[in-house]
Amino acid sequence: MIRSSLSYITFLAFFAMHCAKASQGVPPSQSVDPLASRTWQVILKAENSAQYTEELDSETLTLQAKNLAVVRAKIPPGYPEPYLPYGRLKNTTLDFQLAREPFLSPEIIDLGKNLFAETGLSYTARHGFGAGISCAVCHVETQVFTDGKKLSKGAEGDETRRNTPTLYNAAYNSTLTWANPVFPALEMQAKIPLFGDDPIEMGLKGRENELSASLLGTNSGYAEQIEKIFGLKGDSVDYTVITTAIAAYERTLINFDTKFDRFLQGRLRTDERYDDAEKEGLELFYGMKALQSGDTLPCAQCHSGVLLSNSFQFVRNGRYYNRQSFHNTGLYNLDGKGAYPFKNTGFATESQLRTDPSLMGQFRVPGLRFVGLTAPYAHDGSQDTLDSIIRDYAAGGRSKRSGEGQNPYVDPLIKKGFSINDAEIATLVKFLNTLQ
Ligand code: HEC
Ligand code: HEC
Repeated sequence: MIRSSLSYITFLAFFAMHCAKASQGVPPSQSVDPLASRTWQVILKAENSAQYTEELDSETLTLQAKNLAVVRAKIPPGYPEPYLPYGRLKNTTLDFQLAREPFLSPEIIDLGKNLFAETGLSYTARHGFGAGISCAVCHVETQVFTDGKKLSKGAEGDETRRNTPTLYNAAYNSTLTWANPVFPALEMQAKIPLFGDDPIEMGLKGRENELSASLLGTNSGYAEQIEKIFGLKGDSVDYTVITTAIAAYERTLINFDTKFDRFLQGRLRTDERYDDAEKEGLELFYGMKALQSGDTLPCAQCHSGVLLSNSFQFVRNGRYYNRQSFHNTGLYNLDGKGAYPFKNTGFATESQLRTDPSLMGQFRVPGLRFVGLTAPYAHDGSQDTLDSIIRDYAAGGRSKRSGEGQNPYVDPLIKKGFSINDAEIATLVKFLNTLQ
């Protein structure tokens, strides 16, 4: 009893120290540029737009600290932490249970990393298990976990309907995939590529029960690893072991080490500097400076906060923050009444759209880190360059610029467009290229 309360006090003291450091906002540094401090204040303000926050209780905080240990080094001072004690929130609508604990031990992360690249997790009638597809085929680490393709092909050659997003900082996303409001956990998401059949990605639908036998049989290393971590063997190993381990690995893919982040923290490398054009692009993006036309860019009203997206979930100073954010950016207007392409109409279901057509075309606001490396863009990979994305926004949406007519449900922030010159577009693109 005495021992456990002592360690609890030690934990609280440790936690209080951590909070004191984090709540200063700007990380302590002599060399923070005044513009970096101003930007940091704008970033922090976005956290007030959270739709749900909750003070975590001490038991949850203990679990948070325990699981955070392995990734803490990747989170710079002043940055929020990913929410790690899944299933411990009081609010039941946001509550979801982990398939299994433990998670975020070095062993489970290692297992997850191997499974992420395991082509034995794919199946076709012709090849059986081992049909050549793994998570890593589409989420390529050297391409910041994307694949550079407009759309990607699964085990049977089916094309995905959506463009592959980066997995960096996926642990901070309040919703996963481009338009699914009810997928807050990486464990749940991993089932889609494995077992989904529209389109087929890894082709394992209906093979849930054979999967672990095949995996354990072909590679004896997995059987030992799984038994050691989960205490499970043989028939008692099911696919949730696989999704749990992969999700644990994905939670370690935290990356706040871009030139932009180093600028914010006043720790640019000696061989880099944030030049005037990049600074001007930043000021335009954050609406700190008006365009020559007098218009102000709306970018940071959606691409806001630490993630450059106002769709987020994280913990700061012991409090959980959550916000979901879907918008119509006016890419399509197929029928003159706002239609987006079939089966790619955004987060709303068909029946929701029948009741409320204004929900058409709403996709998640993507974070913009690494955007200079992840072309092509948008949910369906239909945008090629950052330059043309900005010109589409300026016109009030691509469908208006292309002559299809403005989408009637385009977001009000985008609807009126803005007047921007070529030099300003170039500085904005320069800024976006510092997000890597
Ligand atoms: C055939 C290519 C392909 C394969 C294989 C694949 N993915 Fe994906 N991944 C995608 C695409 C495309 C999306 C976007 C899907 C959407 O929005 O509907 C995506 C989305 C995701 C997301 C959501 C990220 C976010 O920010 O919302 C996660 C997480 C993810 N994949 C993990 C995995 C894991 C884990 C595996 C292996 C079990 C895997 N993927 C296999 C193409 C692939
Ligand atoms: C109303 C909210 C909103 C505003 C304002 C906004 N965006 Fe976006 N942005 C989005 C959404 C939503 C998407 C995804 C749209 C889709 O795929 O259908 C997106 C996509 C993007 C992409 C593509 C990212 C990728 O990974 O594919 C870039 C780049 C981008 N926006 C930059 C900007 C810039 C620069 C501005 C300011 C000129 C801006 N956005 C203003 C909501 C917004």
